[in-house]
Amino acid sequence: MKIMITGCRGQLGTELQNQLRDERCELGPLPERLRNTTVIPVDIDELDITDREATIAYIRRHQPDTVINCAAFTNVNGCETNRDAAYRVNALGPRNLALACDKVNARLIHVSTDYVFSGAPNGGIPLDECALPAPVSAYGATKLLGEQYVRDFCRRHFIVRTAWLYGYNGKNFVKTMVNLAKTHDTITVVNDQLGNPTNAVDLAYHLLKLAVSHDYGTYHCTCNGVCSWYDFAAEIIRLSGLPCTVKPCTSAEYAAAHPESANRPAWSALDNRALRCSVGDEMRDWKDAIQAFFNNWNGE
Ligand SMILES: NC(=O)c1ccc[n+]([C@@H]2O[C@H](COP(=O)([O-])OP(=O)(O)OC[C@H]3O[C@@H](n4cnc5c(N)ncnc54)[C@H](OP(=O)(O)O)[C@@H]3O)[C@@H](O)[C@H]2O)c1
Repeated sequence: MKIMITGCRGQLGTELQNQLRDERCELGPLPERLRNTTVIPVDIDELDITDREATIAYIRRHQPDTVINCAAFTNVNGCETNRDAAYRVNALGPRNLALACDKVNARLIHVSTDYVFSGAPNGGIPLDECALPAPVSAYGATKLLGEQYVRDFCRRHFIVRTAWLYGYNGKNFVKTMVNLAKTHDTITVVNDQLGNPTNAVDLAYHLLKLAVSHDYGTYHCTCNGVCSWYDFAAEIIRLSGLPCTVKPCTSAEYAAAHPESANRPAWSALDNRALRCSVGDEMRDWKDAIQAFFNNWNGE
């Protein structure tokens, strides 16, 4: 197979490359069909996905079987203040990839987010793929439009929503908490936004299982179990062994102290129903996955 990875230097893009190189990950070996896969890793300096003509020409030239789009404008607060850039990367980027993939009959695996949802409580039930999106931030809104363009313009598509992602490479909440704990006695974290922390290893492994299937459509793919950002931070600090206290606060208190902060959904826990009903849900429980991260992370 020939798999092109856009945004290859980000958290997820790096993890996908590592798994394809090793033909396995912490969860086990990759599917047989991925043996000796040719990987085409690209990031913005080689291909800016907001450039439609360049994207179409690149994919025509390289003729991948599958494109996995990990490129995105992922800074949620930054999307709020730079909406044009968010729209270009998160909406037009996937549109361009969808147009390009369809021309060469390639499959497009596009990664999206739990932030397409409003955060309404849903009776405490995790949201499955039938739930209706209603984003409350520029990030969520532009990612939702990107999903729609992928559905509109590429016949053989997978849209995979994940959440609260952390990987060995790149910036994420886990590393931010550990760095803060090195210089602070106390950190305060919101306790009224609930979701599913997700290890990039688990996500990448399931994207690659989907890549060799014909089960096109929309998926949720998060680690299992629900917690708040406060619960997640408390577990991170416990595993780090650093002498720091984590204190809970409400979103209203956090917003008052950080007025530049974008709205985030209060309830965005996802249910991996479509995975369970197709290639299987082997996503770990979020606590097992963060424990594994600390076992393997080199601290950088
Ligand atoms: N991170 C999360 O918590 C989270 C949660 C839910 C869903 N997701 C989704 O998961 C996917 C992967 O996220 P991630 O955390 O791995 O992202 P990431 O670490 O921020 O990586 C994104 C990569 O895309 C590149 N990029 C940005 N604009 C581009 C453009 N115009 N053309 C080509 N490449 C471009 C970035 O380059 P620069 O660094 O140079 O900008 C970066 O290398 C994204 O679709 C994201 O929306 C992430």
